Amino acid sequence: MIEYGTYLLKGKKFTVEVDKNIEYQNKFIEKVKELNKGKSLTYSIITMGCQLNENDSEKICGMIEKMGYSRTDESKQADLAVMNTCCVRENAEDKLFGKLGELKKVKEEKGTIIAIGGCMMQEKHIQEKLRKSYPYFDIIFGTHTLHKFPEDLYNALKDKKRIEDVIDIDGEIYEGIPIKRDDNLKASVTIMYGCNNFCSYCIVPYVRGRERSRKPQNIIEEVKCLAAQGYKEITLLGQNVNSYNGGENYKFADLLRDVNKIDGIERIRFVSPHPKDFTDDVIKAIKECDKVCKIIHLPLQAGSTQVLKAMNRKYTKEQYLELAQRIKKEIPEIVFSTDIIVGFPGETEQDFEDTLDVVRKMNYEQVYMFIYSRRIGTPGDMMENQIPEEIKHIRFDRLKALVESQTNENGEKYVGTKQKVLVEGTSKNNEQMLTGRTETNKVVNFKGDSELVGKLVDVKILRNALWYLQGEIEAVQYLSTI
Ligand code: SAH
Ligand code: SF4
Ligand code: F3S
Repeated sequence: MIEYGTYLLKGKKFTVEVDKNIEYQNKFIEKVKELNKGKSLTYSIITMGCQLNENDSEKICGMIEKMGYSRTDESKQADLAVMNTCCVRENAEDKLFGKLGELKKVKEEKGTIIAIGGCMMQEKHIQEKLRKSYPYFDIIFGTHTLHKFPEDLYNALKDKKRIEDVIDIDGEIYEGIPIKRDDNLKASVTIMYGCNNFCSYCIVPYVRGRERSRKPQNIIEEVKCLAAQGYKEITLLGQNVNSYNGGENYKFADLLRDVNKIDGIERIRFVSPHPKDFTDDVIKAIKECDKVCKIIHLPLQAGSTQVLKAMNRKYTKEQYLELAQRIKKEIPEIVFSTDIIVGFPGETEQDFEDTLDVVRKMNYEQVYMFIYSRRIGTPGDMMENQIPEEIKHIRFDRLKALVESQTNENGEKYVGTKQKVLVEGTSKNNEQMLTGRTETNKVVNFKGDSELVGKLVDVKILRNALWYLQGEIEAVQYLSTI
């Protein structure tokens, strides 16, 4: 694990800003270590939600491991069971309550410390439900207090009392939280926090606070440091990355160009841009930066201008299609992926047809499909013209059928082509089989030596199997290893 501050890595010096609040938390890290002295303790973590939450979990793991706990996959065996929650849709909530139910008995027998954090904890009705129906939790912490986990854990252990540490603020940025990453090839780097868009279906702005961007030098230093550790692929994260504001007129396009210059990094991805903020300078940067993958996640949400207006998305069907055209004109090889919600209040059959129409025209590489879920406190929840569940499901199935047929057709187009594949690992069942991803994020399986893991190889695609492609190796591109 990397310790932040100024340090040396493979002979290179890195200086990463450390917030004074994090220095203060380091004291609690020491205090927890002191309390647990002589004990060999384990922790588990379950992450629900998006890549930003996963990146947050890596920070939670960083803090916990610094306190001397080692990870176990089984929460029933852990001394400290952490859940990092999401509340973007109802099914994410159900998952937490199920897990808490399972942990009740384990806690009684073993005294497991139960800590629940993340977006869902920011919601008042959830806090009340936990107090009433699951009073055996030890710590709840929100999105604005994640960095205080060492202090919260120390207080919970020392005083043996329940800690509730959730605040509702616009939000800050805390540089220098230790990170324990899940992968050693691909890494996520959060470039901005919060959201200002208030799409009318979405809970995120209420639980994550206002938009705030990290300083460019902190992001660049983090990526350089990842490159020095052997990471090959970087995903820049934010709820609306193309409204990134690094100060002094330093925008997302500038960041893409600077990250592109970092030696050792082979691929750059980013999620999510908002169509309304997709400026020409970003299109130009994607075109000119060789490491930026030529696939853009361009969330559509709905194809009907009327529904988009009700969703407060601030673009029309035509503007979305025109933007895609403009990008395609500049970068002919570009492909798109998207997010779509079906069954938003007031969505008529004709509106839904508009969504299908855009899907046909865009021919997406990948579509993440969601059934509209009412979120307490959002304008969408207050709308009177809610769509019956049955209709939502029928529409979802229709969309799914269209998407699957497109995905299959798109897969066929790869057969016979040569693709650059970043080798991610060997197949679980067969050491001789490698698995990796194309620039467009398609999984490719092919025969090869495990020494190729971490390298970019040319693979000839032989067969399309709907969820993955099968190929054979042509050439190793670069000889850098992890
Ligand atoms: N900031 C990103 C995505 C955030 S949430 C963006 O704007 O693209 C990820 C996805 O969840 C959204 O794109 C949307 O498709 C979906 N989503 C958000 N709120 C939802 C809700 N109430 N019901 C169903 N899907 C929702
Ligand atoms: Fe939610 Fe819209 Fe913000 Fe994305 S841009 S997080 S969908 S409010
Ligand atoms: Fe992400 Fe879910 Fe929060 S989608 S920002 S973890 S509500």
